[in-house]
Amino acid sequence: MDRIRIIGGNKLHGTIPISGAKNAALPLMIAALLTDETLILDNVPRLADVALLQRILGNHGVDIMAAGKRPGDHEYQGQTLHISAKNIIDTTAPYELVSKMRASFWVVAPLLARMHEAKVSLPGGCAIGTRPVDLLIMALEKLGAEISIDGGYVIAKAPGGLKGATIEFPKVTVSGTHVALMAATLAKGSTIISNAACEPEIADVAGCLNKMGAKITGAGTPRILIEGVAKLHGARHTVLPDRIETGTYAMAVAMTGGEVQLSGARPELLQAALDVLTEAGVSITPNNDGIKVSRNGAGISPVTVTTAPFPGFPTDLQAQLMALMTRAKGASHITETIFENRFMHVQELARFGAKISLDGETATIDGVSKLRGAPVMATDLRASVSLVIAALAADGETMVNRIYHLDRGFERLEEKLSACGATIERISG
Ligand code: UD1
Repeated sequence: MDRIRIIGGNKLHGTIPISGAKNAALPLMIAALLTDETLILDNVPRLADVALLQRILGNHGVDIMAAGKRPGDHEYQGQTLHISAKNIIDTTAPYELVSKMRASFWVVAPLLARMHEAKVSLPGGCAIGTRPVDLLIMALEKLGAEISIDGGYVIAKAPGGLKGATIEFPKVTVSGTHVALMAATLAKGSTIISNAACEPEIADVAGCLNKMGAKITGAGTPRILIEGVAKLHGARHTVLPDRIETGTYAMAVAMTGGEVQLSGARPELLQAALDVLTEAGVSITPNNDGIKVSRNGAGISPVTVTTAPFPGFPTDLQAQLMALMTRAKGASHITETIFENRFMHVQELARFGAKISLDGETATIDGVSKLRGAPVMATDLRASVSLVIAALAADGETMVNRIYHLDRGFERLEEKLSACGATIERISG
């Protein structure tokens, strides 16, 4: 199994290109199931989760062609996928595939909307809490689906097709909103989704669906209106930049000091996180090519942060912020409100000498003046990268084990960081 070796202590200087957002690319690829024409997606990140979803879609009979590089394409350019779900040969998504990635469960929505049936294994994914699918099922039932659960599979049927409805989510859910949105595009009549997730990836997917002929308004706000259409067609869409990757590298620079241009980043996608970094004493300058992040001389000030749905501070940056605060001048408090079990990084950060105590949903981090490199284990996707951030500022060597989690969500992380002066290498096998 691959590992990453880091020798800490180098400041970061240079440019890091920001990739397309994993959390938009996955639902966009799934949305291709809604039409028998080709959906072309540009700026798709090269990630293990994307490759896995290609296999899952392939199992349904979807043809995916990855366009080769063109002259003038730069090294980190995202890939272009031509996705054609002309003939759906199988409406079952098997356990062996779905159990590896939670988002693949979302195929239930387009399969049900277009083929009027789907049999999808209950999902797996990062072990960060129970992560049920009750709200996704509730949304599909509101749209007229008959749903049963048998042998670990969700079996969904809508013999006459789905029908528009009012769906009110009792809590904000990204997965629920994606599923309701995709399913409603082909339902008869109009659908209202209230208390919808406002994450930028939802608006990106809705934008693509509209290019495919859907009639969606209000995506990116808590109230989305969908006027069902009989058929969707092909389209071309560029995946928006990854706000979590952006925030992660911003925190890495904040941790080591130095100055890095995050090229292609869009500040409005992560304003809450940028505000927290500014409060911590980091200099954040949006410019034409993205965001410049620097910290020179001044130390890190402690912060108090609570994770929240967009536009709040994202849960997917909580572990990275915690790593940063291990070196703050004083005590920080971070409260996790989205996932109940998302503190697995705490014990791994302690291996660097970090002082963190947990009380229910709140972590108190007492900043220390030095971290020391250590062997650590990646637990989930975002937790893994928090260990990399700590290692970049720790004295001596860190070995991050089990990095397949990193490969699920961060494209060529070690290349991007070493290009800015970090001593980081992948050790294969
Ligand atoms: C998505 C993101 C993930 C991010 C999360 C929150 C993708 C591929 N993943 O995950 O990176 O951390 O949003 O921003 O986009 N819930 C229920 N019942 C349900 C569905 C969800 O109780 O049927 C709960 C979850 O357990 C969690 C909360 O709702 O406590 C939010 O989950 P949700 O927004 O759906 O997260 P995901 O879509 O799984």
